Amino acid sequence: MIFVNPSFEPGFSFKKPDRTPIEFHKKLPEYKPTPLHSIPSLAAQLGVSGVYVKDESSRLGLPAFKILGASWATYRVLLDRFPDLQEGWQNVDDLKEKVKSCGPIVLYSATDGNHGRAVARVAKLFGLKASIFVPKDTANVRISAIESEGASVTIVDGTYDETVERAEREANDADGLLIQDNGWEGYEQVPRYVIEGYSTMLHEIDDSLAAMSQPRPTHVFVQIGNGSFAEAVVRHFRSGSLSTSVIGVEPDSAACALESVKAGKIISIPGPHQSIMVGMNCDSPSLVSFPVMQKGIRCFVSISDERAMEAMRLLAQLDIESGETGAAGMGALLEIVSKENTASREELEISSTSAILVISTEGATNSDLYLQVIGKRGES
Ligand SMILES: Cc1ncc(COP(=O)(O)O)c(C=O)c1O
Repeated sequence: MIFVNPSFEPGFSFKKPDRTPIEFHKKLPEYKPTPLHSIPSLAAQLGVSGVYVKDESSRLGLPAFKILGASWATYRVLLDRFPDLQEGWQNVDDLKEKVKSCGPIVLYSATDGNHGRAVARVAKLFGLKASIFVPKDTANVRISAIESEGASVTIVDGTYDETVERAEREANDADGLLIQDNGWEGYEQVPRYVIEGYSTMLHEIDDSLAAMSQPRPTHVFVQIGNGSFAEAVVRHFRSGSLSTSVIGVEPDSAACALESVKAGKIISIPGPHQSIMVGMNCDSPSLVSFPVMQKGIRCFVSISDERAMEAMRLLAQLDIESGETGAAGMGALLEIVSKENTASREELEISSTSAILVISTEGATNSDLYLQVIGKRGES
């Protein structure tokens, strides 16, 4: 479904974070900007001036972008409790040494995979423990990936939203630190830090485009799970000159942001959700990010799993490894430029002068499924 947002406010300017998070990320091991690929062949095929794909298949040693938010949020939450941590460290080993003096700390989080693994990795980097909660349908390969970071994993017999409730309860009971990437009433500061952390990727995109002597994109496609990442994208691209159109994508079966914006208030689409785009299998959008999406996203697109798989295969042909959720932005672009949707393409002013940015937010985070989809299963 393509839903052009009647609540979109074209003249509204959002406040974007400064470069403090990127300066923090630069001190973490394995930091380097991820690639921004220019795909002239696809641009020619679609009749636009440029197509760019930001490739997050390898970010700070993990196969998804989420560690940008998890690391900055954990650091900021620790800093709020222990202000002395701000000074006197140059690298993560120094920071780990300083964190030791703060006493035993356990990070808690709920996840459908990528965020939880990121929190687990951050705990390991900072010398903390992590307790991660996953919904019962989570693929084994994702659970093992979280465990491989040294975290304990609890499988919750419920949906993603129920898993978040459980993680919050357990964190409160144990006086742990809940590092959650979505917000609700009374829990708003941590997701705001997560959103700030994502800005690193967006500053890198500006830097890469400038290095290619290319202007800002006219259209950006962004995946929406609970909407934190979409908020970061809106804040970045709809501050200042305001010209970029943000287009949000969700699975057909879990389009909670689309339906909420349509209804004019947050509504829940009860799970369990079965889309292969697991990073977006949420029941409801974040309370923090909903108002920003409502004002700042021009169009919401929901796509089928088949469309996501088509996008994965297309990206694989371009030598970009992109998992099911990661490829969904490309899936939404394919949906909008498909023959049946010429009216939407015109309404969104996608033309020969458009520069389109797609963010591939993960690599093959479920390697079995990835190989099956791109048709490499069983090859030696
Ligand atoms: C790979 C990937 N892309 C996009 C998203 C959506 O991000 P958000 O939940 O901030 O909307 C997720 C969420 O888990 C994800 O794992």
